[in-house]
Amino acid sequence: MERIEPLLFKKYPNLKKKVPWIPLLTNVPTPVERLTKLEKYFNLEDGQIYIKRDDKNHQIYGGNKLRKLEFIFGNTIKRKKKKAIVTCGGIGTNHGLACSIICNILNPPLKCDLFLFNQPLTWHVQRSLLLYDYFGAKLHFGKTDVSILIKALFFWIFHRKYDFILPGGSPLIGRGTPLGIVGFIEAILELNEQIKKGQISEPDIIFIAAGTTGTAAGLIAGCKLLGLKTKVYAVAVVKDFIVNSSNLARNASKALKYLHKKDKNFPKLKVTEDDFELIKGYLGSGYGVKTIRGQKAVDTIFELEGKEKGFDLETTYTGKAMAGMFDFLIKEENKNKIILFWNTYNSNDLDNYIKEAQFDYKKLPKKFHKFFEETNFQCWQITNCPDDIKMNCPAYLNHEYRFWRIIECQLDEEKRNEAYEALNKVIKLNDA
Ligand SMILES: Cc1ncc(COP(=O)(O)O)c(C=O)c1O
Repeated sequence: MERIEPLLFKKYPNLKKKVPWIPLLTNVPTPVERLTKLEKYFNLEDGQIYIKRDDKNHQIYGGNKLRKLEFIFGNTIKRKKKKAIVTCGGIGTNHGLACSIICNILNPPLKCDLFLFNQPLTWHVQRSLLLYDYFGAKLHFGKTDVSILIKALFFWIFHRKYDFILPGGSPLIGRGTPLGIVGFIEAILELNEQIKKGQISEPDIIFIAAGTTGTAAGLIAGCKLLGLKTKVYAVAVVKDFIVNSSNLARNASKALKYLHKKDKNFPKLKVTEDDFELIKGYLGSGYGVKTIRGQKAVDTIFELEGKEKGFDLETTYTGKAMAGMFDFLIKEENKNKIILFWNTYNSNDLDNYIKEAQFDYKKLPKKFHKFFEETNFQCWQITNCPDDIKMNCPAYLNHEYRFWRIIECQLDEEKRNEAYEALNKVIKLNDA
């Protein structure tokens, strides 16, 4: 059912005319589910662990991005009347994927240009590149995050019919719109309704991955607005320059200030560094790099809970945040807390789109071909899997399944062992 309006507009009706918004989310409120097997795993007797299932907040593409895009695209379409957007991110950017999909399904559709920089290559990256193209985005390549930002800005200067959306939909070093952050203040109002209905007790702590910080900043600002006792623990998954306490506090305050400016009934509030915790030590050597603890958290939570409940984390954001939560839960003094893990990673199946795209990377601009040609990542490539086996295999053109995750793999064991070793050489785990 399409949402009529955000809870924020119900609570502060003056905001309705002043804050741009379009409905994009199709499945809200997202459920909060208790993770009882994880509670047992950590021997919690008095504590409770929940997950906020934002991973399924949209029928095609769930995750944290669409909550931001409802407000950002509201501005693009309703206020600025633009018919195209340009944005940037790593070659596996989820923000870029969300933008490509939304631009494609809007009526009328928007043009979408993505400027992408290098990040460690995984099958997630390969899949994302194929999906951007499948959903009609135009791709541009640059080597580093800084050079790609400059390229995108130049493009925008010469293409004024485009709206420029900052990476991750968050302000960058204090610059840019706080509208994406407002999407997560709205998310806390949604959580508060669930608390009132008794679906979850007021959490002591929310664990969240912090990249460009908009998501965490919105949750922090929302808790401040409602005076919740909940403390947001933001786990840093990008470099210090972007995720740091002052940036988080500034972004959260910026969104609150924006809303107060639009409606004087909205309280005047400021977030300080005491209002949240910034957790470091889970990034590894850089953005997108797989870490041992992150991978272990992904695998453990999938086995314990995700397999049954239908979600799977990844190693760039949610796996690192979960690793931070695991280390927190090991400590005796934390075993009586009510903890909410905010799942920001899509868990809808996108494989049909990949299948339709036929792994045909040659359709992408030439500069991206090397990400498919220089190293083999897909299990059917590294095993040289014969067509008759491959075509009937659930791992073929599938996002997460690889031969070691399916029982019915028809290849002989020797070949599988060889391939596993080969793969371990190309995907390096960081000791973090
Ligand atoms: C799956 C996932 N989780 C968390 C984040 C972090 O969100 P933010 O950039 O708002 O900090 C991102 C951002 O791309 C993401 O893709």
